[in-house]
Amino acid sequence: MRTLDLAGVPVPVIGQGTWRMGEERHQRNAEIAALQAGIERGMSLIDTAEMYAEGGAEEVVGAAITGQRDRVFLVSKVYPHNASRKGIPQACDRSLRRLGTDYIDLYLLHWRGQYPLEETVEAFERLREDGKIGRWGVSNFDLDDLEELASPACATNQVLYNIEERGIEFDLLPAAQRQRLPLMAYCPIAQAGKLLHHPVLQQVAERHGVTTAQVSLAWVLRQDGVIAIPKAVHPEHVRLNAEAAGLRLNDEDLAAIDRAFPAPLRKQRLAVV
Ligand SMILES: NC(=O)c1ccc[n+]([C@@H]2O[C@H](COP(=O)([O-])OP(=O)(O)OC[C@H]3O[C@@H](n4cnc5c(N)ncnc54)[C@H](OP(=O)(O)O)[C@@H]3O)[C@@H](O)[C@H]2O)c1
Repeated sequence: MRTLDLAGVPVPVIGQGTWRMGEERHQRNAEIAALQAGIERGMSLIDTAEMYAEGGAEEVVGAAITGQRDRVFLVSKVYPHNASRKGIPQACDRSLRRLGTDYIDLYLLHWRGQYPLEETVEAFERLREDGKIGRWGVSNFDLDDLEELASPACATNQVLYNIEERGIEFDLLPAAQRQRLPLMAYCPIAQAGKLLHHPVLQQVAERHGVTTAQVSLAWVLRQDGVIAIPKAVHPEHVRLNAEAAGLRLNDEDLAAIDRAFPAPLRKQRLAVV
C-alpha cells in the first residue's frame, strides 16, 4: 500500500470509513471482519466519529483493533456541539473508552459549529500534550475557514471529494497542496450510487479489467496529498478497494472522465453530505 506523510507519520493512501457501521446488531461481526481484513490488506487508517451510530461505530472499531492497536492509525471526530474547552476532553474520553485505547492518532472537528476556533484548538492542543491524541485536524472546512484557522498544527482537512463532486479542485485542493496539507476524501466512491453505473466509468474500468469503484478510487488518488477512506463491509469490496491503490489511470481515461464530469471553472461552495 502506497503511503503519504501526514504530520510526520506515513499513512496509507487508502483507509477505511465506518459511517453506518454499528447501527445493526446483526451486522456487527461482518463489520469487524471487514475492518480486520482491510487492515491485513494495508488499509490500516480507520476513520470513525462519535456521531456514527452515536458511538456504535467506535465500538465496532474498538473490537476490530483489539490486540493490534499499534498497527492502526485511528481517526475520530468530535461533534461541533462538544468542541468547547470543557466538552472536548469529555468527548475524547468517551471515544477512547469505546475504542478501547488510550490514544487517538488523529482527532478532527467534524464540522464548524458555535464555538470559537481558538477555543477548540486550545482544547485539542491540551489533549495532545496529555498524550490522548497524536495530532488534530478539521473536517468540512472550506478555504475561508482554513484561512481563518491558519494553524500549521492542523494535520488534515477531511472533505467530500469524488468524480461527481470536484468543487475543491478550483481552490481548496491546490491551496492544500501548496501548504502540503493532506486532504482526506470522504465518499470517494460517491456512496456506491449511480456514478458506478456511468458508461464512461464502465468503459475505463473495462479497459483496465477493474471495477468502476476502483476507477473512482484511483481517480481521487491521482492527486498528490489525497487519502481516500471508502467504507466497505462486503469482503469483496474490501479486497477491491485495497487493490485500487495499484491502479493508474492514463491520459485517455482522465480526458474521458473530464468530458463527462468537467472540472470546476469557478468557486463552488464546499459540498457536504
Ligand atoms: N467528515 C465527514 O463529514 C464525513 C461525511 C461522510 C463520510 N465520512 C467518512 O468517509 C467514509 C466514506 O464515505 P461513505 O461511507 O459515505 O461513502 P463511500 O465510501 O463512497 O461508499 C460506501 C458505499 O460503497 C459501497 N462499496 C464500498 N466499496 C465498494 C466497491 N469496491 N464496489 C462497490 N461498492 C462498494 C459500500 O458497500 P458495503 O458497505 O456493502 O461494502 C457502501 O455502500 C465514511 O464511512 C466516513 O468514515 C466523513
